[in-house]
Amino acid sequence: MFLERTGRLELRPPEAADAGAFAAMDADPEVMRYIGDGSVPPADPELMAARIARARRSWQERGYGLASVLLRESGEVVGWVQLAPPLFLPEVLPAVEIGWRFRRDAWGHGYATEAARVLLRVGFEEAGLDRLLSIRHVENARSARVMEKLGLRLRFETAVPAGGPPVAVHALTRAEWLSGPRV
Ligand SMILES: CC(C)(COP(=O)(O)OP(=O)(O)OC[C@H]1O[C@@H](n2cnc3c(N)ncnc32)[C@H](O)[C@@H]1OP(=O)(O)O)[C@@H](O)C(=O)NCCC(=O)NCCS
Repeated sequence: MFLERTGRLELRPPEAADAGAFAAMDADPEVMRYIGDGSVPPADPELMAARIARARRSWQERGYGLASVLLRESGEVVGWVQLAPPLFLPEVLPAVEIGWRFRRDAWGHGYATEAARVLLRVGFEEAGLDRLLSIRHVENARSARVMEKLGLRLRFETAVPAGGPPVAVHALTRAEWLSGPRV
């Protein structure tokens, strides 16, 4: 299955043993501040195991999905990046979104950007996608900066249905990606 290394990181499909690292991120209010309604979801080990199993199936069935991000130096799981349909925003479907979530003590090192570059290549080169979206809460400035560094340009703002948060929709086409620096 999928395994990629960058200078500092290793990306691979999530394993059952990653559940603890994922749950710790999801229990941190700062990490969850701009996700959904910004609340911390109750810990649910069964749901987490199902998410991990679903992510593994996605790699097998679609050739993309959620990848755990590990520091090569220590082997620690510090976050994840993913390619997945943004089902929470029906107006943009069908589409595939690139997203990320990292442990707070791992922010600010460029890990999200370094890991997401791998998934841009997977999406455009291996899965043959023509366009990737990335969607953030309008106030999520860190995520906006990651999108900007990846070349994902702001296209429009909207809101998640049923009183959900205001969001900014960014996009990158394969043609734009091919003509960009791709460093
Ligand atoms: C968004 C997230 C993945 C970014 O991770 P990261 O590893 O810090 O990202 P990077 O280090 O690659 O880049 C962050 C950039 O934002 C900049 N930044 C940091 N704090 C910022 C702030 N308050 N306002 C604007 N930009 C900021 C950094 O300087 C850096 O840009 P630079 O390389 O030009 O200096 C991380 O903050 C996170 O997991 N947040 C919680 C989950 C989340 O919100 N996910 C995204 C949902 S859309």
